[in-house]
Amino acid sequence: MTSSTTETVAVPATSTKLAAGQKHRVLSGMQPSADSLHLGNYIGALVNWVRMQDEYDAIFFIPDLHAITVPQDPAELAKRTRVTAAQYIAGGVDVDKCTLFVQSQVPEHAQLAWVLNCITGFGEASRMTQFKDKAQKQGTDQASVGLFTYPILQAADILLYQPHGVPVGEDQRQHVELSRDLANRFNSRFGETFQVPEAFIQKESAKIYDLQNPTAKMSKSAESPAGLINLLDDPKTTAKRIKSAVTDTETEIRFDREAKPGISNLLTIYSTISGRPVEKIVADYEGRMYGHLKVDLAELVTNHLTPIRERAHELLADPAELDRLLAHGADKAREIASATLADVYAKVGFLPYGSQQGAR
Ligand code: AMP
Ligand code: TRP
Repeated sequence: MTSSTTETVAVPATSTKLAAGQKHRVLSGMQPSADSLHLGNYIGALVNWVRMQDEYDAIFFIPDLHAITVPQDPAELAKRTRVTAAQYIAGGVDVDKCTLFVQSQVPEHAQLAWVLNCITGFGEASRMTQFKDKAQKQGTDQASVGLFTYPILQAADILLYQPHGVPVGEDQRQHVELSRDLANRFNSRFGETFQVPEAFIQKESAKIYDLQNPTAKMSKSAESPAGLINLLDDPKTTAKRIKSAVTDTETEIRFDREAKPGISNLLTIYSTISGRPVEKIVADYEGRMYGHLKVDLAELVTNHLTPIRERAHELLADPAELDRLLAHGADKAREIASATLADVYAKVGFLPYGSQQGAR
């Protein structure tokens, strides 16, 4: 990915003033719920994270506590957590520039979540649309209480680190709103404690669609894997899927999301990976066939993903070293998280541990 790549996240100006040399903080996470990230996760989230780590004090984590809100196979969860971390690093997340950690290794997340549970209304939590969708899919009796309080744990993830911005997809807007509401509520009840975070919402242009069903978002829960481009797939599979992408019966290569969703999706992928604007690509392909575009795109994508896949496999070949990197990230995260939690505990009236010892 070149630096000329168009911005894929809308970054509003934050009102917070900074001291000289200080950076605004951003925080985000992606669940370890698949054996590979797909191209939507990569273009929609990871590429932005990598760009942000230079400009911002960036914190990225793997929300494994969130993953168990739906049933997980334990061995699979552990494996997917490492695989996700390896892909973050292989995709450009630099553990020396930012903080990268696994959520369950920082106990303050669960601890703050409890306090926030106690200032969230039952009705307020019931209005979270993602919970309603997921619970409906599973049947309300099957849905866990953890799934119900998922957004409150997410608010704890965010508020512990006092970030200015939370880069996420549109589907997470309501959860960031809840964390803002809880921050304001806590601040007004107990005194100034939390930074009120802004959602940095991913732009439409960073949305990638299913290759077989180009009006649906590329998603790990797709009906068929043929519509997915996975970071860890072998290049042959990736090339084959791109060449079999559903298009339309016309022949003209142009960007028209409504009338030509398949071709428009291929153009978006081409543009974000090559760093060239869509109009330039359209001009290059004037008078040429869909097949030409697909063959070139397959080569572009496989060339781009190959070093990422290889680096991820290298990292996974030495799990002890990967675990060490993650433990180091968790230590860095805890320094920030424990200070916020101590402030919260004192403000709600929890007795400081051991402060009266020897003072009898
Ligand atoms: P998910 O795997 O659905 O939990 O997605 C994690 C993050 O990846 C989301 O918050 C989005 O930022 C991004 N993402 C997921 N699917 C897509 C997609 N099809 N296009 C662009 N971004 C996506
Ligand atoms: N709920 C987010 C998702 O599914 C993942 C997540 C958990 C998250 N905690 C977070 C994202 C905190 C941003 C900040 O994509």
